[in-house]
Amino acid sequence: MNSIGRVFMEKTKYQYLEESDQDLGLPQPPLELSCPEGAEVVSLPKIEQIKTQSLDLTEAINRRETCRKYRREALTIDELAYLLWCTQGVKRVTSRPVTLRTVPSAGARHAFETFLLINNVEGLQPGLYKYVALEHKLRVVNLKAGLAESIVQITGNQKFIADSAVTFIWTASIYRMKWRYGERSYRYIHLDAGHVGQNLYLAAQTVGSGVCAIAAFDDDALNDLLGLDGDEQFAVYLATVGKV
Ligand SMILES: Cc1cc2nc3c(=O)[nH]c(=O)nc-3n(C[C@H](O)[C@H](O)[C@H](O)COP(=O)(O)O)c2cc1C
Repeated sequence: MNSIGRVFMEKTKYQYLEESDQDLGLPQPPLELSCPEGAEVVSLPKIEQIKTQSLDLTEAINRRETCRKYRREALTIDELAYLLWCTQGVKRVTSRPVTLRTVPSAGARHAFETFLLINNVEGLQPGLYKYVALEHKLRVVNLKAGLAESIVQITGNQKFIADSAVTFIWTASIYRMKWRYGERSYRYIHLDAGHVGQNLYLAAQTVGSGVCAIAAFDDDALNDLLGLDGDEQFAVYLATVGKV
């Protein structure tokens, strides 16, 4: 059986991997993609300043469930900042250097970038934003109308996206992972994504919100909308968040 999936699993076994760029002594790529010159940025409250409801871990795990119906109540900027920190927050930059974040990542390569479709967050105009994890800030990407409707279409008409307060869109900057792991990186980014998604599911409960993970989307259309080439940068996973 030569199905694409089986070939992928076979050919990404260690025995087939070539020397990586790290093995060849090439310098590692930056820890995060840089902001374009003159980009508009929005500061976020620091994690130490944010008060959230405390929640017993066993209870949070037990209560976790997918939620696709949301109240039309805005998330506060504190709540959004908290969720961003829980999913991609940088705790430390080591001397290697790598980022150590609130989620694990193979080799601490942390290949994700986080886009946000903001529909209903206090103090933020609806539109597309990007999390600058190293600075714990938001960058404004695109405030044109109709983005939510486009993403609904791109995900096969998952209408609740338009009712969510915010939709997280995790994209891979694959060379950050490939520099060390070569073709095996395509396995690792999807494993990494699971950790990010679960942190969002659990953390959302402390801010009175529910989450729905989304992996059904038209890759090319979503990459186009985000301005990604679909090769070096591409969408991996989405998740809606809204008050319940
Ligand atoms: C990788 C992955 C992809 C998913 N994609 C979608 C999706 O595109 N649309 C959707 O409504 N739910 C999606 N879900 C949510 C699942 O349907 C949900 O987790 C499952 O039905 C189990 O329900 P629970 O999360 O409440 O335990 C996805 C979940 C995962 C983990």
